[in-house]
Amino acid sequence: MKLVVGNQKTYLNRDGVLDFIEKTKKGKCDSVVVCPSSVYIDMFLEKSKFLVGSQNVSEKGNGASTGEISAEQLNSLGVSYSIVAHSERRANQKETGPMFVNKINNLFANDIIPIFCVGETKEEKEKGITKDIVGKQIMEVFDNIDSNNIEKIIVAYEPIWSIGTGLIPVNDDIIDVTNYIKDLVQDKYNKRVAVLYGGSVNKGNIDTLNSIDVVDGYLIGGASVKPEEFLYIMEKCE
Ligand code: PGA
Repeated sequence: MKLVVGNQKTYLNRDGVLDFIEKTKKGKCDSVVVCPSSVYIDMFLEKSKFLVGSQNVSEKGNGASTGEISAEQLNSLGVSYSIVAHSERRANQKETGPMFVNKINNLFANDIIPIFCVGETKEEKEKGITKDIVGKQIMEVFDNIDSNNIEKIIVAYEPIWSIGTGLIPVNDDIIDVTNYIKDLVQDKYNKRVAVLYGGSVNKGNIDTLNSIDVVDGYLIGGASVKPEEFLYIMEKCE
């Protein structure tokens, strides 16, 4: 069984969300997390059987932070996972390591599991420095959080050049980077972490990806808002 996490970004409006929930009702959702746009979190919690995650969290606690959503607020709704450090937030909101540390600490203080994203750009891959980049992204955060919390973090390896492009690494490359992440965390912190793969996961490549044992699940963007396709992937991952 693999963990399936849907990152619905801002793809859907209200009617699309209701349609998605209705059409995915028949699926078995034991290990499926949907991270809707935050305005629809409550709707998912009320109307769907999915576990629900957020796509982001404030680095601060409750208080004077206009436009933010705190971990405490997410917890009060029943949110159980939160994506942290997605490459779109690293690039567009200029979020960095120290902010991820604050976010992760706030999530742990509120019993929410962080899904921490790492990954290299196309240029970094071409230069052959994927592992250096991914290792740095992990260490700048893991070095600064309570080591007892490390094995509760889920790492999502998402090559940036693969997100939304239809391109995915060959299986051997996914295996290589996933093993590197697991070994790094084992050697440096003496902890085991689960690692998801993310980037253009869809119904056409899920069988090939599922042949990789070392990957513990998937973080899925575009295909997570198409009800039939998401159901298909969910079934393949049961
Ligand atoms: P994608 O997005 O599946 O559309 O490539 C993945 C992600 O951004 O997490």
